[in-house]
Amino acid sequence: MAEELNISAGDKAQKYAGLLPQIAALIADEDDALANQANIVAALWQTFGFFWVGFYRVIGEELVLGPFQGPIACTRIAYGAGVCGGAWKAKETLVVEDVEQFPGHIACASASRSEIVVPIKTAGGSITHVLDIDSDQLANFDQVDREYLEQLAQMIAPKINP
Ligand code: SME
Repeated sequence: MAEELNISAGDKAQKYAGLLPQIAALIADEDDALANQANIVAALWQTFGFFWVGFYRVIGEELVLGPFQGPIACTRIAYGAGVCGGAWKAKETLVVEDVEQFPGHIACASASRSEIVVPIKTAGGSITHVLDIDSDQLANFDQVDREYLEQLAQMIAPKINP
Protein backbone atom coordinates (compact mmCIF):
# COMPACT_ATOMS: atom_id res chain seq x y z
CA MET A 1 0.00 0.00 0.00
CA ALA A 2 1.51 3.31 -1.03
CA GLU A 3 0.03 6.42 0.44
CA GLU A 4 0.87 10.07 0.72
CA LEU A 5 2.22 11.42 3.98
CA ASN A 6 0.07 14.18 5.34
CA ILE A 7 2.75 16.55 6.63
CA SER A 8 1.35 18.86 9.25
CA ALA A 9 2.28 22.50 9.50
CA GLY A 10 3.19 24.14 12.79
CA ASP A 11 6.00 23.70 15.22
CA LYS A 12 8.15 20.68 15.79
CA ALA A 13 5.92 19.12 18.45
CA GLN A 14 2.87 19.42 16.19
CA LYS A 15 4.79 17.81 13.35
CA TYR A 16 5.84 14.87 15.50
CA ALA A 17 2.34 14.52 16.93
CA GLY A 18 0.94 14.35 13.40
CA LEU A 19 3.65 12.06 12.09
CA LEU A 20 3.71 9.34 14.73
CA PRO A 21 0.21 7.96 14.02
CA GLN A 22 1.00 8.04 10.30
CA ILE A 23 4.14 5.99 10.85
CA ALA A 24 2.12 3.58 13.00
CA ALA A 25 -0.34 3.16 10.11
CA LEU A 26 2.47 2.83 7.58
CA ILE A 27 4.04 -0.15 9.33
CA ALA A 28 0.95 -1.73 10.90
CA ASP A 29 0.29 -4.30 8.17
CA GLU A 30 3.91 -4.95 7.21
CA ASP A 31 6.15 -7.42 8.99
CA ASP A 32 9.29 -6.97 6.90
CA ALA A 33 11.83 -5.24 9.14
CA LEU A 34 13.86 -3.72 6.31
CA ALA A 35 10.83 -2.31 4.49
CA ASN A 36 9.58 -0.76 7.73
CA GLN A 37 12.98 0.78 8.57
CA ALA A 38 13.18 2.23 5.05
CA ASN A 39 9.76 3.88 5.25
CA ILE A 40 10.32 5.20 8.78
CA VAL A 41 13.51 7.04 7.81
CA ALA A 42 11.87 8.36 4.66
CA ALA A 43 8.88 9.65 6.66
CA LEU A 44 11.16 11.46 9.14
CA TRP A 45 13.33 12.88 6.40
CA GLN A 46 10.37 14.04 4.32
CA THR A 47 8.64 15.68 7.28
CA PHE A 48 11.60 17.50 8.83
CA GLY A 49 14.14 17.78 6.01
CA PHE A 50 16.89 16.43 8.28
CA PHE A 51 20.41 16.36 6.84
CA TRP A 52 20.77 12.63 7.59
CA VAL A 53 18.43 10.11 9.16
CA GLY A 54 18.98 6.38 9.36
CA PHE A 55 19.21 3.17 11.31
CA TYR A 56 22.30 1.34 12.44
CA ARG A 57 21.73 -2.31 13.33
CA VAL A 58 23.46 -4.06 16.22
CA ILE A 59 25.33 -7.00 14.66
CA GLY A 60 27.79 -8.68 16.99
CA GLU A 61 30.12 -6.07 18.47
CA GLU A 62 29.37 -3.43 15.86
CA LEU A 63 26.69 -1.17 14.50
CA VAL A 64 26.15 -1.78 10.80
CA LEU A 65 24.53 0.79 8.53
CA GLY A 66 20.87 0.21 7.71
CA PRO A 67 18.29 2.11 5.67
CA PHE A 68 18.93 5.87 5.61
CA GLN A 69 18.24 9.11 3.77
CA GLY A 70 21.09 11.53 3.17
CA PRO A 71 24.73 11.44 2.13
CA ILE A 72 26.72 8.21 2.19
CA ALA A 73 27.74 7.24 5.71
CA CYS A 74 30.16 5.09 7.71
CA THR A 75 29.16 1.46 7.32
CA ARG A 76 30.44 0.10 10.66
CA ILE A 77 30.74 1.72 14.10
CA ALA A 78 32.31 -0.04 17.09
CA TYR A 79 30.60 -0.45 20.46
CA GLY A 80 31.09 2.79 22.39
CA ALA A 81 32.47 4.73 19.40
CA GLY A 82 31.08 8.12 18.42
CA VAL A 83 27.59 9.26 19.28
CA CYS A 84 25.91 6.15 17.84
CA GLY A 85 28.18 3.67 19.62
CA GLY A 86 27.96 5.85 22.74
CA ALA A 87 24.15 5.72 22.82
CA TRP A 88 24.32 1.95 22.37
CA LYS A 89 26.75 1.64 25.28
CA ALA A 90 24.88 4.10 27.53
CA LYS A 91 21.57 2.39 26.62
CA GLU A 92 19.98 5.81 26.36
CA THR A 93 19.33 8.68 24.00
CA LEU A 94 22.22 11.06 23.37
CA VAL A 95 21.58 14.62 22.26
CA VAL A 96 24.69 16.44 21.02
CA GLU A 97 24.36 20.17 20.43
CA ASP A 98 27.77 20.54 18.79
CA VAL A 99 29.34 17.39 17.39
CA GLU A 100 32.79 19.03 17.34
CA GLN A 101 32.66 19.14 21.14
CA PHE A 102 31.75 15.44 21.46
CA PRO A 103 34.83 13.34 22.22
CA GLY A 104 35.25 10.63 19.57
CA HIS A 105 32.55 11.93 17.28
CA ILE A 106 32.70 10.11 13.95
CA ALA A 107 32.46 12.67 11.18
CA CYS A 108 30.80 10.85 8.32
CA ALA A 109 29.96 14.20 6.75
CA SER A 110 31.64 17.47 7.67
CA ALA A 111 28.35 19.37 7.28
CA SER A 112 26.86 17.57 10.26
CA ARG A 113 26.74 19.92 13.28
CA SER A 114 24.32 18.44 15.82
CA GLU A 115 22.88 15.02 16.37
CA ILE A 116 20.42 12.84 18.29
CA VAL A 117 20.76 9.08 18.63
CA VAL A 118 17.93 6.98 20.08
CA PRO A 119 18.41 3.31 20.94
CA ILE A 120 15.69 0.86 19.91
CA LYS A 121 15.10 -1.85 22.51
CA THR A 122 13.33 -5.18 22.66
CA ALA A 123 10.69 -5.72 25.32
CA GLY A 124 13.48 -7.33 27.36
CA GLY A 125 15.64 -4.21 27.10
CA SER A 126 18.31 -5.38 24.62
CA ILE A 127 19.32 -2.84 22.03
CA THR A 128 18.81 -4.02 18.46
CA HIS A 129 19.23 -0.75 16.52
CA VAL A 130 19.94 2.91 16.97
CA LEU A 131 18.10 5.66 15.13
CA ASP A 132 20.58 8.40 14.20
CA ILE A 133 19.47 11.86 13.08
CA ASP A 134 21.97 14.54 12.07
CA SER A 135 21.42 18.22 11.39
CA ASP A 136 23.57 20.71 9.51
CA GLN A 137 22.62 23.31 12.15
CA LEU A 138 24.02 23.61 15.66
CA ALA A 139 21.79 22.59 18.58
CA ASN A 140 18.93 21.46 16.39
CA PHE A 141 17.69 18.80 18.82
CA ASP A 142 16.16 19.21 22.25
CA GLN A 143 13.79 17.63 24.75
CA VAL A 144 10.90 17.72 22.26
CA ASP A 145 12.84 15.58 19.77
CA ARG A 146 13.95 13.27 22.56
CA GLU A 147 10.42 12.70 23.87
CA TYR A 148 8.79 12.07 20.51
CA LEU A 149 11.62 9.99 19.11
CA GLU A 150 11.70 7.81 22.23
CA GLN A 151 7.95 7.33 21.81
CA LEU A 152 8.58 6.43 18.18
CA ALA A 153 11.35 4.01 19.18
CA GLN A 154 9.02 2.13 21.50
CA MET A 155 6.28 2.01 18.90
CA ILE A 156 8.44 0.70 16.05
CA ALA A 157 10.58 -1.75 18.04
CA PRO A 158 8.42 -4.84 17.40
CA LYS A 159 8.13 -3.98 13.69
CA ILE A 160 11.77 -3.44 12.78
CA ASN A 161 13.23 -6.66 14.13
CA PRO A 162 13.56 -9.51 11.68
N1 SME B 1 28.16 10.93 13.54
C1 SME B 1 27.89 9.61 13.93
C2 SME B 1 28.29 8.62 12.88
C3 SME B 1 27.21 8.25 11.97
S1 SME B 1 26.86 9.38 10.85
O1 SME B 1 26.98 10.73 11.15
C4 SME B 1 25.71 9.01 9.79
C5 SME B 1 28.52 9.25 15.28
O2 SME B 1 29.43 9.89 15.75
O3 SME B 1 28.05 8.27 15.84
